Amino acid sequence: MSEAAVGYTKEHGERFVEELKELLRIPSVSTAPEHVGDVRKAAEFVADGLRAAGMEKVRLIETSTTARKGHPLVYAEWLHAAGKPTVLLYGHYDVQPAEPLDEWKSPPFEPEIRDGNIYARGAVDDKGQMWMHVKALESLLKTDGKLPVNVRVMIEGEEEVGGEGIAAFVREHGDQLKADAALVSDTEMFAPELPTLCVGLRGMIYTELEARGAATDLHSGMYGGAAPNPFVALAQMIAQMKREDGHIAIPGFYDGIEEPTKAELEAWRSLPFDEEAYRKHEVGSTELTGEAMFSVLERTWSRPTMDVHGIPGGFIGAGAKTVIPAKATAKISFRLVPGMRPEETFAKYKKFVEEICPKGIQVKVTMIHSGEPIVVSTDNKYVRAATDAMAKVFGKETVFVRGGGSIPIVGDFVRELGIPTVMMGFGLPDDNLHAPNEKFHLANFHRGIESIVRFLDGVGAGS
Ligand code: BES
Ligand code: MN
Ligand code: MN
Repeated sequence: MSEAAVGYTKEHGERFVEELKELLRIPSVSTAPEHVGDVRKAAEFVADGLRAAGMEKVRLIETSTTARKGHPLVYAEWLHAAGKPTVLLYGHYDVQPAEPLDEWKSPPFEPEIRDGNIYARGAVDDKGQMWMHVKALESLLKTDGKLPVNVRVMIEGEEEVGGEGIAAFVREHGDQLKADAALVSDTEMFAPELPTLCVGLRGMIYTELEARGAATDLHSGMYGGAAPNPFVALAQMIAQMKREDGHIAIPGFYDGIEEPTKAELEAWRSLPFDEEAYRKHEVGSTELTGEAMFSVLERTWSRPTMDVHGIPGGFIGAGAKTVIPAKATAKISFRLVPGMRPEETFAKYKKFVEEICPKGIQVKVTMIHSGEPIVVSTDNKYVRAATDAMAKVFGKETVFVRGGGSIPIVGDFVRELGIPTVMMGFGLPDDNLHAPNEKFHLANFHRGIESIVRFLDGVGAGS
């Protein structure tokens, strides 16, 4: 029974945190070529943890895409619960870059505990949450000598760069991941103390829009006024794509969008959401922007959007240089909602920028990565096992929300593997994902482990 396992999680909780700290010291930034070795080190660390927990067939699976060699997947299994369902546990051990470094109160790869929170890049997204899965398995295996269900574990190292490696693996070797349900802990709770299941994620396309003007950089005094400027061209194109009222002006962009049901919208309205506190304390801006006829939750969960992440190129050093750069590139992404397809959105966007491209400028649009939007079913026994488990741990009813972020592989779990997916996450709204001073509330780390133990137990008991 899980009570012994729950006891074990409490007895060994401090060690679990020490291990997590060790993992957080490895800068496994998947997008940075200089960190390939660290990414692999993190994969080995996770594999060792799974072996120590008592999992079987633990191995690294190499990945590659047409473009490049990928980061390894970590696989493990325990399949001796005859007649019981098989649960696929998913997480990621890669992290986002930590920059800007001078905004961190303690260095991003030197985890520090302050006020019951552990601060480090990857603390909540997703090393801390992934480690909860490993520790839940350990707690069950070390106390019962077995698991209540069959378990496969798949942890990837490329989630933060689009997850192409794992997608290829799922497409080609889906049979090796046969499972009845998937459990993902890579989302947030709606509010502290409020157990939450995430039932939808936005999809995305991440692109680069390159603009070229003159054949070479030019003196801006000698040529300014006559030569095309690719930065100005990018600004003009971007401004035409997203209007000031938040509407995306790409023709057909909103075609086919599926609205949330009345019941879902009604449920969102009853969530404890304080828009002014959100503006002030989470966003920290003077105003919120976007489509005024939609609520903030709709704008971030069920409406698509476009954002610009950076415009590399030209002169960015200290001081001044009077130059008209030959080339500039904008990193632009779109978040997609159900009813939208990544390839179709990309085609509409590409056609539009080619049409509005200013005189004397050549544009090139490249897709960096993409992922499908997803809504998961809430009417199955796995969701019930999750809400039962969290009711025991938090003493509260679970709320159902969507997330504005993306986890590309979740769409493949649902579409390719055809399995219900439970997104039971323990992050908090102010955990600073992808930002300086990322943290994980340690109480939630421990409650997460207990919830996962109880979830697996509940699934095994057929509740
Ligand atoms: N864990 C996040 C996604 C997330 C965050 C979902 C909060 C729901 C609520 C994930 O690690 C992430 O950041 N994904 C990227 C995906 C992209 C790089 C393909 C994202 O959403 O930007
Ligand atoms: Mn994540
Ligand atoms: Mn992330």
